[in-house]
Amino acid sequence: MLTGKKILIGVTGSIAAYKVAYLIRNLIKQEAEIKVIMTSASCDFISPLTLATLSKNPVAIEFIKNAEGEWENHVELGLWADLFIIAPATANSLSKLVSGNCDNLLLATYLSARCPVWVAPAMDLDMFTHFSTRENLAKLSKEGVRIIEPTHGELASGLEGQGRMEEPEKIAELAKDFFTIKSVLKGKTVLITGGPTYEAIDPVRFIGNHSSGKTGILLADECAKRGAVVYLVTGPTRFTVKDKNIHVIAIQSANEMYEAVQEVWPKANLGIFSAAVADYRPETPATSKIKKKSNELTLTLVKNPDILSWAGQNKRDAQTLVGFALETDNEIENARGKFERKNLDLLILNSLNDPGAGFGHKTNQVTFIQKNNKLRKFELKEKGLVILDILDEIETIIE
Ligand code: C5P
Repeated sequence: MLTGKKILIGVTGSIAAYKVAYLIRNLIKQEAEIKVIMTSASCDFISPLTLATLSKNPVAIEFIKNAEGEWENHVELGLWADLFIIAPATANSLSKLVSGNCDNLLLATYLSARCPVWVAPAMDLDMFTHFSTRENLAKLSKEGVRIIEPTHGELASGLEGQGRMEEPEKIAELAKDFFTIKSVLKGKTVLITGGPTYEAIDPVRFIGNHSSGKTGILLADECAKRGAVVYLVTGPTRFTVKDKNIHVIAIQSANEMYEAVQEVWPKANLGIFSAAVADYRPETPATSKIKKKSNELTLTLVKNPDILSWAGQNKRDAQTLVGFALETDNEIENARGKFERKNLDLLILNSLNDPGAGFGHKTNQVTFIQKNNKLRKFELKEKGLVILDILDEIETIIE
């Protein structure tokens, strides 16, 4: 049940607007409180009276709500909502959401809303695949707006393809899932680094390492499941991210990872740095393939930036930072030093000395290093279960 949850529904001018009646009915049945904002174009597709009756609240359309000249307060509406769902969202409205245009009440409310915002696009297939729509959706998604992907099937134009607004029952189910998640990660922005880095020697060769990138992806999936807005900066990996709401920033080199992290870290609440970053890179990668001429080849390597240390140095009080360490000797002592030097809140120590742990195993054994000399050693477990232990621990320390 969604008892007491305040959901604002924004309706824009698409034929799919008729489906929003079912969405509102469904949410009301689950005891949510609903308010509706319509664009004037959407009123051609469904009557405001229908939506006012179903939502049990007057529908807001214009900035001035009655003949007495009373203002519809878009800021109040934006602050009232626990969740704002724009369904259906037309190509035109998506473009306006991106540009910051606020020539109608719905758009002005979007700019004022502090709650999570979801958009459920609905349009013809060519409009949906048009570069401008793809770019607008990518930009919205990057800013944390959740995209409820349209489904494939018959469209109002008679054509077949992707563009049908997701079914109201499904959107209502997503809302229910969203509100029932209890994790403190819900609504938080999480930056994860994962995978190896590839440091170019020439256009065809690189220095890399054996990291598969799986840990980063498992962490990203689990954070998304717990309701976080997730940015995954990952080096090359054969694994794919299934959740479309995870923002994947694919990089190759440590410098590219550093650039991406510098962009995302300032807006993140939590950073989990699991990438196996190369410590060194070739000083000057050759611009064409190096020929096999002499018996010896000397490469000069220079140090890569320590990305985690940068994040630690630039950590605000409300941010939580988690790093990984793989040690072979004096494990605990070295890990504690790393914890302090990198200004961490949690360090996950993997030991190569533990049988069954590390690269190439399905299992892992970790020790958590925390402040005040706190230390927790776990038994050998499936890697997926280790991820759950890590995130459960993070939930206890995150603000
Ligand atoms: O110092 P060391 O490489 O052992 O630290 C490991 C931790 O630091 C991991 O969390 C790794 O992702 C991060 N790291 C980084 N940038 C580097 C090297 C390591 O973010 N250049």
